[in-house]
Amino acid sequence: LAGEVGDELNQKVYIVGGFVRDLLLKTDNWDLDFVTEGDGIELARQLNHKIGGKLTIHEKFGTAVIKLPQFISIDIVTARREYYEYPAALPKVERSNIWSDLFRRDFTINCMAIALNQDNFGEMIDYFGGMKDLQDKQIRVLYNLSFIEDPTRIFRAIRFAARFNFTIEKSTCQYIEQAISANMLEKLSNDRIREEIIHIIREQDVLDKSLQMLNSFKIFKSLDPSLTINSMVIRKVKNVRFSLEGFRQLSSKPFNQTIVMLMQLISEVDTDKISEVLKKLIANETLVNSITQSMVKRRSVYEILSQEEVDRYTIYTALKPHSDEALIFFYNDSENPYVRHYIAFYKLKLSSIHIKITGKDLQEMGIKPGPIYKMIMDSVLKAKVLGTIYDRNGELEFAKQK
Ligand code: CTP
Repeated sequence: LAGEVGDELNQKVYIVGGFVRDLLLKTDNWDLDFVTEGDGIELARQLNHKIGGKLTIHEKFGTAVIKLPQFISIDIVTARREYYEYPAALPKVERSNIWSDLFRRDFTINCMAIALNQDNFGEMIDYFGGMKDLQDKQIRVLYNLSFIEDPTRIFRAIRFAARFNFTIEKSTCQYIEQAISANMLEKLSNDRIREEIIHIIREQDVLDKSLQMLNSFKIFKSLDPSLTINSMVIRKVKNVRFSLEGFRQLSSKPFNQTIVMLMQLISEVDTDKISEVLKKLIANETLVNSITQSMVKRRSVYEILSQEEVDRYTIYTALKPHSDEALIFFYNDSENPYVRHYIAFYKLKLSSIHIKITGKDLQEMGIKPGPIYKMIMDSVLKAKVLGTIYDRNGELEFAKQK
């Protein structure tokens, strides 16, 4: 259909990139990228007129996206050439043809296109040897400066190599090493690094491969010298998904899996460096602070909970200050059966306990406001957690006795 619209507008249309790669790999991919040698926005309008999706136009970039049900997404761009004013900059763009559009891309396996116009429908366009690299199972850049111009491609190379179980071709490896030695990663904003790391850790099935590759290129070290990722950390990061599955049985609230994985990823960082490292990986400052608090306290939590008998109130006070994500992290990280048991017990039986009486109630009982209020409230809470009182009446009675 896109080809037909192209014919009507007298412009060449191609489907390119990940879709073509995944088609050859016989993998589903519903992110369709169309490139046209002509007006991309007009093509998108006409195409959407026929298929009735939700069209969003980005005039400034000459691009458009059509969203269809079932997460099908169609990106339409005008063929363009990109050039970089300086290394690691965002690229400048100008209109061009399919060759230049493919040449601006990252790896040969992502640089293939299939023609969609009637006169050459289905013709495979493979200027850079993508098919051969797919057969040889390798990730190869098109030119030596690729990683210097766009250092995020270092992460992408690793992500694709891990995902498809490919190797990174020898010269491409050298270009990665050169870019890292030239400190190109430092030129990337925290936002861009964060996005790439998150893309990588979301591909959980192949995490051991991707993390090992990141390690062997010393990428974690260049991101932050205190970021140690050893085989134990890799194993634990991989286990996060199982710990999460366990937690889903205990609570219907959704958890932020990425946060748990990031916590585990930085678990060997020295306590005084945690906050600094986290800031590179998480944008929200309040979240960084709360995660730092939990990570700093984790050893003392493990110590309290790693005993055969711990009373309910001790469990409650040890775990109450922490978010669900931190609890899952403790569960996964400690690997201690007692700690795990008490965390699950807390989540199931204790986490929702809170007191109902208020300062107003105490005032009505004739107690003068002061530090005594906190003492009474704390002991009411303790009695409730320990199970000696149950309801509001019990709370009031208990407070009176105090
Ligand atoms: N691309 C690039 N350099 C980048 C990011 C993207 O050259 N830093 C190019 C790639 O050639 C890619 C295309 O832009 O094919 C679209 O990017 P993206 O959607 O991220 O790639 P996919 O290959 O579709 O990746 P995924 O399968 O993970 O969605």
